[in-house]
Amino acid sequence: MTDVSGAPADVLHTLFHSDQGGHEQVVLCQDRASGLKAVIALHSTALGPALGGTRFYPYATEAEAVADALNLARGMSYKNAMAGLDHGGGKAVIIGDPDVVKTEELLLAYGRFVASLGGRYVTACDVGTYVADMDVVARACRWTTGRSPENGGAGDSSVLTAFGVYQGMRASAQHLWGDPSLRDRTVGVAGVGKVGHHLVEHLLAEGARVVITDVRQEAVRRIADKHPSVAVVADTERLIEFDGLDVYAPCALGGALNDASVPVLTAKIVCGAANNQLAHPGVEKDLADRGILYAPDYVVNAGGVIQVADELHGFDFDRCRAKAAKIFDTTLAIFARAKTDGIPPAAAADRLAEQRMHEAARTPVG
Ligand SMILES: NC(=O)c1ccc[n+]([C@@H]2O[C@H](COP(=O)([O-])OP(=O)(O)OC[C@H]3O[C@@H](n4cnc5c(N)ncnc54)[C@H](O)[C@@H]3O)[C@@H](O)[C@H]2O)c1
Repeated sequence: MTDVSGAPADVLHTLFHSDQGGHEQVVLCQDRASGLKAVIALHSTALGPALGGTRFYPYATEAEAVADALNLARGMSYKNAMAGLDHGGGKAVIIGDPDVVKTEELLLAYGRFVASLGGRYVTACDVGTYVADMDVVARACRWTTGRSPENGGAGDSSVLTAFGVYQGMRASAQHLWGDPSLRDRTVGVAGVGKVGHHLVEHLLAEGARVVITDVRQEAVRRIADKHPSVAVVADTERLIEFDGLDVYAPCALGGALNDASVPVLTAKIVCGAANNQLAHPGVEKDLADRGILYAPDYVVNAGGVIQVADELHGFDFDRCRAKAAKIFDTTLAIFARAKTDGIPPAAAADRLAEQRMHEAARTPVG
């Protein structure tokens, strides 16, 4: 997947003339009364209605907002395809600082724009938007997920996201060591927030040795107080060089795998929840060259989107958990394809996702 960036003319050129874009529809939304300025980008509806969250962010320029919406929407097509969902990829961005401009009036206006697409786009939470915001958007638009349980939603998605990452990690162990068990393996978790701390619980339950780090001391303390066996290191730099580390799980911010971290990483597997772990194209090859198995981020962290998709049909935790458990098989299939094609797993995941979208687009419906 290649990034879209630059001035409006470049963005339009990418959209209509480059094989890196290929988006179906981009909607620019403005509501002067509430101050809403938003971009809704639909990359593909080949597999079904486009599904992806709403990012609320103070973009420096409108062109930057459009470029971000296009990139994120494209990413969702791949993520939803590999999660086995009957959903295409879309994403929306609302321009502005959510702490300053977010109001009920603005969210309702946004909901009306999403509703105007008649179900071609289903929205959810992302950076800067929360379950409570989706409850408001849902009052204006039925194609809204990520709502609170009181409003028919599934609530916090981090439980199933962590479960999916854990399944991806077991599949990685199976591929590399011939056994999915993480018992007595040493796993380093960078970022023990909502997803990371649930992941730690899975790992401890299986008998893994766990090492953690987080910039927030209260997040570290929450785990260390409950589980004295968990080792704590001061920062991510120390974690990635930890002696005897078998698995590295980035569960904080993007860009964890970069020119500084990959050469010194002691782990043999990388599998974590963070989005956009590869800092730039080429890092996936650097990992492969060092013999490090990388479980593609958007595949193993799909538990959250599996949950919001399920919410559309009336959320059922067990059904959803069963779907998230399939991340194990999907991850193995990616490693197998990578081996057959002689490419890194990140590229194999892209190929498999493209194949599914391509085949669905050719299948007559009805
Ligand atoms: N929540 C979900 O369902 C979900 C789904 C898919 C992907 N993700 C991704 O997973 C990651 C974690 O999500 P979350 O919901 O747990 O977020 P979170 O904010 O609850 O947790 C992130 C944790 O990382 C810590 N952190 C930040 N910078 C750090 C650093 N430099 N070193 C160490 N720790 C650092 C934070 O203090 C925090 O405790 C994010 O990248 C998110 O985009 C989350």
